[in-house]
Amino acid sequence: MQIKQTADGSPTLYVPELDEHYHSVKGARTESQHVFIDMGLKHVRFAQPRILEIGFGTGLNAYLSLLEANQTGKKIHYTGLEPYPPEQDLLAKLTYNNDPLFQYIHAAGWEIETPIGPYFTLLKKPTGLAESRRTNAGQRYDAVYFDAFAPEKQPEMWEQQNLDHLYAVMNDGGVLTTYCAKGTVRRALRAAGFTVERLPGPPGGKREMIRATKTLI
Ligand SMILES: C[S@@+](CC[C@H](N)C(=O)[O-])C[C@H]1O[C@@H](n2cnc3c(N)ncnc32)[C@H](O)[C@@H]1O
Repeated sequence: MQIKQTADGSPTLYVPELDEHYHSVKGARTESQHVFIDMGLKHVRFAQPRILEIGFGTGLNAYLSLLEANQTGKKIHYTGLEPYPPEQDLLAKLTYNNDPLFQYIHAAGWEIETPIGPYFTLLKKPTGLAESRRTNAGQRYDAVYFDAFAPEKQPEMWEQQNLDHLYAVMNDGGVLTTYCAKGTVRRALRAAGFTVERLPGPPGGKREMIRATKTLI
């Protein structure tokens, strides 16, 4: 894996074997902020949201959620699933404005709830989505950040049974966002039961993204 700079000056990781980046080369931080924070987290109406991230990777989405929690004073519980964590020395070289909070995210242990400041609790799990489908013990979430590799690169992540599972573990009113706006993904999310919106993608990046809301009424 290699570190690459993206157009907004923030770094991402590149996986040569998949020919795939962890974020948009048009701007890693810009994409994460737009797709998961501005279009996702900010639309969650719960006072103390519980977030589930599929594909924790560099921890950038967790970091931006932590900043949002500190800014709003809303307490966030954050669970990140990652079966293939990048190596620590690679993560140590990734910096976002040299903010030590980003390093705290990586210093946190696995499978242990770790408070990072007064408003954010992190639980990193070395578990893949399929395994978590089998082992989820009744936890419920208000937001899902679906940040898997693209359907062309890792199709099994986008299978109907995974999206059905995510619908089942979300609270009514919960929102799932993803950078991918493909028709097949929109249809699978609708089939799972979500109300699906196509929204503008991040500035300079993909034209569209998806927000899927669990609406029982
Ligand atoms: C697009 S990258 C994620 C980027 C990450 N959210 C970030 O901000 O760095 C996709 C991530 O999904 C992870 N992944 C691969 N297989 C997975 C699985 N079965 N379950 C959950 N995550 C998986 C990869 O290791 C990778 O970190």
